Amino acid sequence: MADTLTKLTYQTLQQGKSYLSFAHKTLSIQARKALKPNDLPMIPVPPALITKLQQRVNDLQAVDWQDAENGVYPTSLLFDEPWVDYLRQYPSMVVDLPSIWQRADAKKYQDFKDIETEGYPSYYVQNFHHQTGGYLSDLSANLYDLQVEILFGGSADAMRRRILRPLKASLTAFSDVPAKQIRILDAACGTARTLRGVRAMLPQASLFGVDLSGAYLRKANEQLADMPGELVQLMQGNIEELPYVDNYFHAVTCVFLFHELPPAVRQQAIAECYRVLKPGGSFIICDSIQVADSPELEAMMNMFHETFHEPYYRSYMTDDLVDRLYQAGFAQVLPPEVHFMSKYLVAHKPIV
Ligand SMILES: C[S@@+](CC[C@H](N)C(=O)[O-])C[C@H]1O[C@@H](n2cnc3c(N)ncnc32)[C@H](O)[C@@H]1O
Repeated sequence: MADTLTKLTYQTLQQGKSYLSFAHKTLSIQARKALKPNDLPMIPVPPALITKLQQRVNDLQAVDWQDAENGVYPTSLLFDEPWVDYLRQYPSMVVDLPSIWQRADAKKYQDFKDIETEGYPSYYVQNFHHQTGGYLSDLSANLYDLQVEILFGGSADAMRRRILRPLKASLTAFSDVPAKQIRILDAACGTARTLRGVRAMLPQASLFGVDLSGAYLRKANEQLADMPGELVQLMQGNIEELPYVDNYFHAVTCVFLFHELPPAVRQQAIAECYRVLKPGGSFIICDSIQVADSPELEAMMNMFHETFHEPYYRSYMTDDLVDRLYQAGFAQVLPPEVHFMSKYLVAHKPIV
């Protein structure tokens, strides 16, 4: 009975998030149309595709619930939403919309007035998603989680949580290591939504997060402050040159980064994650779907990289990540699993 009630509450919460994000998208499209009536190209989504997407969402929720029920992670994680923060940030997000539209209309992709950009790789100094400040401002870091949840109709965290089961399974290779000595790195950790999930599942492990953005790390720090257990060690750094010694981590995760890297940087990022992993350790990537696993959504993917300014997404759509992982030295790459608009890949570093 308690389980049935919790499941119903979870389904209602997901449904509610999906309605809220739909309401926001509808209102913002209306507002934009009112400002520029003739200028907004609308591409209709065929009803069959909408049905398919809804099925993917339902499947995602089913597996999310199932993993919690099977004890992969606590059921409470399904309800881990920063509602107060979302409510606090929503007005700023609305106020920021016109500048996002202006930037998009003017095709201004490197708009960093009054923001220090020196020292960052040039591929990174971009207004990804037309975001004000790119990844380099506190405003952007404050709005990011809310924006991503709205973009994915309230399913972003459920997609991130898909890495938790393979992560836990991969650690059985180190069953002789005391829980506190297990070290896990989340590379490009952003505002720490993934790290919160990992902490809830593995309360004793030593967790690390690295990201290029100081602003996003500040937000991550804030979001992790109320989590029990040892402090998560956050560090500013580039995935191309990770600030850790060789063979240090039992597992490395990386969520929603690869589609934002140029192809050569993707290879270097994989090489670095391989280097810092212990032999027998696993690297788990969660990122956007690709054409090979979701050919029926190719048109949508094409639209995504244009509409949301994702400059490296076109090359990502057909990039063979499995081949890249093998090139870096990984011995076994498991077949990718697709969940709604995301997929994950698990690669094992050989023992010798
Ligand atoms: C789309 S966000 C994903 C953040 C987080 N993993 C999540 O699931 O929300 C991409 C993140 O990658 C970081 N990033 C981009 N290029 C990077 C690089 N070369 N090294 C480290 N972090 C990078 C950005 O600062 C940003 O926080």
